[in-house]
Amino acid sequence: MQHNVLILDFGSQYTQLIARRVRELNIFCEIFPYNNPPQDLSSYKAVILSGSPFSVRAEDAPHPDLSGIRGKLPMLAVCYGAQYLAHFNGGEVAPSNIREYGRANLSYIKEEELFLQGVQTGSQVWMSHSDTIKQLPENGVRLASTNDVENAAYRLDGEDTYAIQFHPEVYHSTDGKLILENFLVKIAEVPQNFTAANFVDDIVAELKEKLKDDKVVLGLSGGVDSTVAAVLLNKAIGKNLYCIFVNNGLLRKNEFESVLHQYKDMGLNVKGVDASDRFLTALAGVDDPEKKRKAIGRVFIEVFDDEAHKLTDVKWLAQGTIYPDVIESISVKGPSATIKSHHNVGGLPDFMKLQVVEPLRMLFKDEVRRVGATLGIDPELLGRHPFPGPGLAIRILGDITPEKVSILQEVDAIFIEGLKANGLYDKVWQAGAILLPVNSVGVMGDERTYEKVVALRAVESTDGMTADWVHLPYEFLMKVSNQIINKVKGVNRVVYDISSKPPATIEWE
Ligand code: XMP
Repeated sequence: MQHNVLILDFGSQYTQLIARRVRELNIFCEIFPYNNPPQDLSSYKAVILSGSPFSVRAEDAPHPDLSGIRGKLPMLAVCYGAQYLAHFNGGEVAPSNIREYGRANLSYIKEEELFLQGVQTGSQVWMSHSDTIKQLPENGVRLASTNDVENAAYRLDGEDTYAIQFHPEVYHSTDGKLILENFLVKIAEVPQNFTAANFVDDIVAELKEKLKDDKVVLGLSGGVDSTVAAVLLNKAIGKNLYCIFVNNGLLRKNEFESVLHQYKDMGLNVKGVDASDRFLTALAGVDDPEKKRKAIGRVFIEVFDDEAHKLTDVKWLAQGTIYPDVIESISVKGPSATIKSHHNVGGLPDFMKLQVVEPLRMLFKDEVRRVGATLGIDPELLGRHPFPGPGLAIRILGDITPEKVSILQEVDAIFIEGLKANGLYDKVWQAGAILLPVNSVGVMGDERTYEKVVALRAVESTDGMTADWVHLPYEFLMKVSNQIINKVKGVNRVVYDISSKPPATIEWE
């Protein structure tokens, strides 16, 4: 993989967004914590310094060593980076006496500067800082100002070093992406060649080289990440990839059979293992959500380990890890975060002692989907809603029985099919049904009934961290509710969840 742009992270909440914006320009970039940068910078063509929650004047603030970078590679310093450069190079940074947070507009733009080419006076920018640069460093040239922030952008004369006080990566900075493009493409001349097709070519070659004739085992979940990882590995090593798809008995209706079928059609060397009974036995009588999760995790490891043992000479465990997980584990917050529990090998199942290969570890979720599309994976599979690992177990409140699973599978299938049939599925980020541990009174024909209540949940979100309930049309809810009560024996009432996250969560358990 080519290393084009290095983003040094000083702990800003927006660092991942910088990477997203750079990738949108088809430029490959990597985030490293400022205190643990790569040793070899020879393959990087530009460096971006992120913002930070610290003030440069604080004693414990990040003090990066930029001697290997400044003046040697084009550098863009954002917010904290801009202040850091000023503070330690003869400029002056002081607490600001007005609030410099939120939207502002550029009131001055220096003419004929490549960095701000195409940006008009009045352009909206997003500020988020409490210190301000009172005086530029010695060779600083002011490039832009707002009414309140005189030194909103500057460069250092005689070198390709640029600094901006505002955040180009934030959506509210209208020309932010253009400024990044000016810096990366026009000034640093970074090639825009990071496309899904190029990624596939590069990673397949890399996997071939790395894995040679070794055998690799991978757990498929039916989700996007493990599927795309499997197809890439299959392209690289073919039948030496052994996929295992476990039915925990808590999947959606018919999902195990239909997804297994799809996997086989895709040419994957996959074994379907129906371990429903093992999971349901382990879950019998368990009603605490965390105990359910633990039991499912434990049984999954047992089942996977049993299957992996049936294979001989396996050297690698493949995982569908994606970039946000990687960034999280190398965060500035400290080395403790880098120690993942499975690195603590004592007493672990054998398959966890295998070497790990993660073909998607440099990709964001939307990039995984684009790679999947390039690989010709069914768009329906790529567009599937997220589904939790513990599956329906955390949507059956209270204890779990095969009957409850079956009721919920029927309800869920009617809801999801209904969303698809009415063109609503792709407008929803995640949807599902929840079986409540209460009975309510109803009347069907002349009969009094006393049956289960189900809740329907449909949310919009981008990453699951926050979410809002979707305003599904009443007509649709009415139809689905009628269908559920008429068709699913044991259910006589349907409610719709209208809670946002926070304060609620997406799942009920
Ligand atoms: P919450 O309920 O925390 O869910 O708002 C956020 C997202 O995470 C999924 N989720 C899980 N996924 N194992 C998983 O693999 C779990 O134990 C789990 N709990 C919640 C949930 O479906 C939603 O997408």
